[in-house]
Amino acid sequence: MAEIDYTRLFRLDGRTAVVVGAGSGIGRESALALAAHGAHVVCADRDLEAAQATAATGPGGAGWGGLSAYGLDVLDEAQVRRSAADLGDVDVLVFTAATNVRKKVLDYSGEEFDRVVSLNLRASFDLLRAFGPGMAERGRGSIIGFSSIRAVTVEPGQGVYAATKAGLVQLLRTTAAELGPSGVRVNAVAPGIVDTPLTAQIKGDPEWEHAYASKSALGRWSRPSELAGAVVYLASDASSFVTGTQLFVDGGWTAIDGRYTPPA
Ligand SMILES: NC(=O)c1ccc[n+]([C@@H]2O[C@H](COP(=O)([O-])OP(=O)(O)OC[C@H]3O[C@@H](n4cnc5c(N)ncnc54)[C@H](O)[C@@H]3O)[C@@H](O)[C@H]2O)c1
Repeated sequence: MAEIDYTRLFRLDGRTAVVVGAGSGIGRESALALAAHGAHVVCADRDLEAAQATAATGPGGAGWGGLSAYGLDVLDEAQVRRSAADLGDVDVLVFTAATNVRKKVLDYSGEEFDRVVSLNLRASFDLLRAFGPGMAERGRGSIIGFSSIRAVTVEPGQGVYAATKAGLVQLLRTTAAELGPSGVRVNAVAPGIVDTPLTAQIKGDPEWEHAYASKSALGRWSRPSELAGAVVYLASDASSFVTGTQLFVDGGWTAIDGRYTPPA
C-alpha cells in the first residue's frame, strides 16, 4: 500500500467549495479556512455585498485557493437550482444560513413558524436536492450542514428552532444513507453558543450572556473561527470515513448537566 502523505491530509487543493451564508459569522470563517487549505471557495449569500467582502479577504499567495462571491437567496427554490447549474463541479457544500425567533411555543404565530422552517429546513432540503445529484454522478463530495446544540437539548423559547435543527440532522443522516453508495458524505456540525449576529439578542442582555458563557465546560462563548476546523475536517480526506454524523463544537455544553456543582 502506498504511504499516505499525512502532511496533506487536510488539503483541499483543486477542489471547489460552496459556502452558503459566507457573508457572516460561521459561514465567513468557514469560507476563509477552506480557501486557506487550498479550495476555491464560492462565497454565496443573499447579501451579495457581504459575500463580496468575505471574498475580498485573505492573504492570497501559495496554498491559498482563492474566493469568489455569488448572490443567492436560498428561499427561492429556482435560484437554488440555478446556482447548482451555474457553479459546475462542486466538491464541498457548506450551508449555514438559518434564523431564530425566540418565543415560547404557545406565543408563536404561524407566520413565524413558516419563516424559521422555510430557511432552516426547507432551504436545506432544496440545497441537498440541487447539489446532491452532481456529486453523486461524479462519485465524490462532502455536504456539511449546520445543526445546533438545540438539536438535542432545549430550553423555553427554542421550540421551533430546535425542531428545525433536529429535523435537519435526520434529513442529513438519511441523505448520508442514500448518497453513501455514490461516494458522497453528508454531516452536520453542531455549535454551542457563538458570537455572531444570530446571537446579538443574547449578547445584548448581560445576565443571558453570562448564563450561556458559564454553561459550557470552557466557561465562555465561542468565536466563529472556532467552527472552521470542523468544517475543514469534514470537507477534507481527513474525514474520508465519516458520514451521517453530527460533530459537536460546543465547548462541552451538551456533555455536562450544569444545574449544580456538588461540593465533591
Ligand atoms: N451563532 C450561534 O451561536 C449558533 C449556535 C448554534 C448553531 N448555529 C448555527 O450555525 C449556522 C450559522 O450561524 P451564524 O451565527 O454564523 O449566522 P449569521 O446570522 O451570522 O450568518 C447567516 C448568514 O446567512 C445569510 N442568509 C440569511 N438568509 C439567507 C438566504 N435566504 N439565502 C442566503 N443566505 C442567507 C445571511 O446573510 C448571513 O450572511 C446557523 O445554521 C445557525 O443556526 C449558530
